[in-house]
Amino acid sequence: MISLAIVSPKGGVGKTTLSLNLAFAFAQLGKKTLLIDTDPQGGIGHSLAGKTKDAIGLVDLVAGEPANRVIIQTRNPNLSILPVGQPPWQRLSSWSADMADPDVIARAFGPLEDEYEVAIIDTPAGLSGPTYGVMSYASDVLMPIQTEPLAIRVVGQLMEVLAHLREQGARAKLSAVVLTMARMRDETSLSVSQEAWSLFPEKLVLDTIVPRDQELLQASVQGVPVGLLRKRPPPVSAVFDRIVAELEPRLGLTETTDDDQPIHLLD
Ligand SMILES: Nc1ncnc2c1ncn2[C@@H]1O[C@H](COP(=O)(O)OP(=O)(O)O)[C@@H](O)[C@H]1O
Ligand SMILES: [Mg+2]
Repeated sequence: MISLAIVSPKGGVGKTTLSLNLAFAFAQLGKKTLLIDTDPQGGIGHSLAGKTKDAIGLVDLVAGEPANRVIIQTRNPNLSILPVGQPPWQRLSSWSADMADPDVIARAFGPLEDEYEVAIIDTPAGLSGPTYGVMSYASDVLMPIQTEPLAIRVVGQLMEVLAHLREQGARAKLSAVVLTMARMRDETSLSVSQEAWSLFPEKLVLDTIVPRDQELLQASVQGVPVGLLRKRPPPVSAVFDRIVAELEPRLGLTETTDDDQPIHLLD
């Protein structure tokens, strides 16, 4: 199982939106996908209509509940969701601290490895608590950066934590940076994008940018991936398919076979 953690030291940069829509895009592509919410604020629960909001979830899985009781199968046969559940509000900081323990996360996620091809893990803002635990377990980290001034400064913090985790034996690497909430006709958005492209090693920052788009906002209000907002998916939903196409080789998910040849329209 590829476990892709969506991480940013900052809140409100589009982590949850990206997690939900990427998970849906992977599932549409035929990958057996699990969307995991580790944010005690229940980001996924809030952005999804239906039964995830009050469900049991990660909190219970960690406490020993079997996975098949806490994971919700969606109408898409390839997409399942592990909601966060109901973190104890009275002792939230100690719950979060527990979740920073790599052993706690490994015990919870380990048994899922053979069930799913891809796990997309949404995390709370910051680099401590569940985010730290998840990074100690994940195979890959994807960092969204909002295209606004100063946004790039937080990248250093993430790199430091990842370097520290690798010294401890973790496998996670920063596999991709995605620019989000871009206003493509806005000078600032463009200059932040260019700064990111020049600052990071080649190929780390994906070519595909998530635009600031009213329909994405509307989809999260409706509690659906944007591809399901209406019968004919809004153009912005294709952005997530493109991100998946860019991620696949980085995550080692592309299989090239001998018959991977152009398909001719005529005999
Ligand atoms: N590309 C986008 N265009 C427009 N609105 C967006 C976009 N990405 C996220 N949003 C909205 O911005 C808010 C914060 O996004 P969210 O994904 O919850 O960020 P995070 O999980 O990083 O806190 C939400 O209301 C969401 O619907
Ligand atoms: Mg969130």
